[in-house]
Amino acid sequence: METRETKPVIFLFTFPLQGHLNPMFQLANIFFNKGFSITVIHTEFNSPNFSNFPHFTFVSIPDGLSEPESYPDVIEILHDLNSKCVAPFGDCLKKLIAEEPTAACVIVDALWYFTHDLTQKFDIPRIVLRTVNLSAFVAFSKFHVLREKGYLSLQETQADSPVPELPYLRMKDLPWFQTEDPRSGDKLQRGVMKSLKSSSGIIFNAIEDLESDQLDQALIEFPVPLFCIGPFHRYVSASSSSLLAHDMTCLSWLDKQETNSVIYASLGSIASIDESEFLEIAWGLRNSNQPFLWVVRPGLIHGKEWIEILPKGFIENLKGRGKIVKWAPQPEVLAHRATGGFLTHCGWNSTLEGICEAIPMICKPSFGDQRVNARYITDVWKIGLHLENKIERTKIESAVRTLMTSSEGEEIRKRIMPMKEIAEQCLKIGGSSFRNLENLIAYILSF
Ligand code: UDX
Repeated sequence: METRETKPVIFLFTFPLQGHLNPMFQLANIFFNKGFSITVIHTEFNSPNFSNFPHFTFVSIPDGLSEPESYPDVIEILHDLNSKCVAPFGDCLKKLIAEEPTAACVIVDALWYFTHDLTQKFDIPRIVLRTVNLSAFVAFSKFHVLREKGYLSLQETQADSPVPELPYLRMKDLPWFQTEDPRSGDKLQRGVMKSLKSSSGIIFNAIEDLESDQLDQALIEFPVPLFCIGPFHRYVSASSSSLLAHDMTCLSWLDKQETNSVIYASLGSIASIDESEFLEIAWGLRNSNQPFLWVVRPGLIHGKEWIEILPKGFIENLKGRGKIVKWAPQPEVLAHRATGGFLTHCGWNSTLEGICEAIPMICKPSFGDQRVNARYITDVWKIGLHLENKIERTKIESAVRTLMTSSEGEEIRKRIMPMKEIAEQCLKIGGSSFRNLENLIAYILSF
């Protein structure tokens, strides 16, 4: 039997944001189940809960980050982490490589764009986990061309015009970074591109069969092996890498609702909205008369603690027809028989979790890849409705009613079923993700 001493070891360097931690820990579990030893390198900021992963070794590195609230936006946190972690990560990696004779490779999140020089210096292969899907990946890869052509400045004036280089997308769908300073977004994009192009390979939590034309595009831009092995959360049980506590009362509340009746609303872990958008969503959900479960994360509403701006009596008047929580066990909520629709920001993890449970969506994207995903959901895969432009209560009410009670909603629900089927088949023997994972493992063992 192989022991810790003889098993090949993978070092995983997690990026401390929820939408990045979940797929990285799922990936770690996939490799563990395939016979690798796992060492997780993590920052002190948003450090994971070790007790959920007793089978991994954890190494913490100091990140020198200031209070997150002191940064103007999340992109500045990313840059600061990428400059402050250079020396601590280098020291850590040097020590780990010296201690582990069976070290196979390092897997880093793509947002750690500084890691290229260090892994080269220590002569260890570096594979990158890109947490977006292939369509968004291709759109990001053309970012510099789109900027040079001036498309990014057309997002306001020609919002609905098509993007010639990216079929299906409109100007307003182009990936956009949540920052006041466009140079900061450019710097991130350049760093990530360079790091991806110089990697030994790229792993995606994506399904080749759903985006085969985009895979061909990606291969033209990136001359390194690409491995689509998603959906990760289907190999391993639900995520335990949550930074916030899951409110499990969601599940007992769902138990009391009728099958396919509940609209689940969540805007993910980073996106934020202003007061008026929040109130429009609240009234839209309420006026739809459909039962709803709504995640309002602390920090979701600019400058507010939580839901204190809801009018007095709003919750009481729902008479149990709506439930608001701070954080939900999302995969379980989506898998619950009562959940019938998903009002989502279209983060890729959420989108994929929704597809795997065949839950049709209402899209309210914010930034980055979310806009690309929303366009694919509504115009390419046709498995959801798009809340285009300004958020208004009447639009939300009407979208919820259409999705949950109309024949159009029924058609959408029918279209998502084959996608769920594809997401299941790809993991079975001979399926695309199954094959790609086998190839990835053989590739890592050949280093
Ligand atoms: C963002 C991007 O939009 C995403 O595409 C990128 O890959 C990572 O960063 P985020 O806002 O975190 O992501 O959304 P998403 O990718 O959907 O990830 C959120 C994760 O948190 C999901 O795995 C979801 O299951 C989980 N979650 C969300 C909960 O566990 N509970 C909740 O209440 C809400």
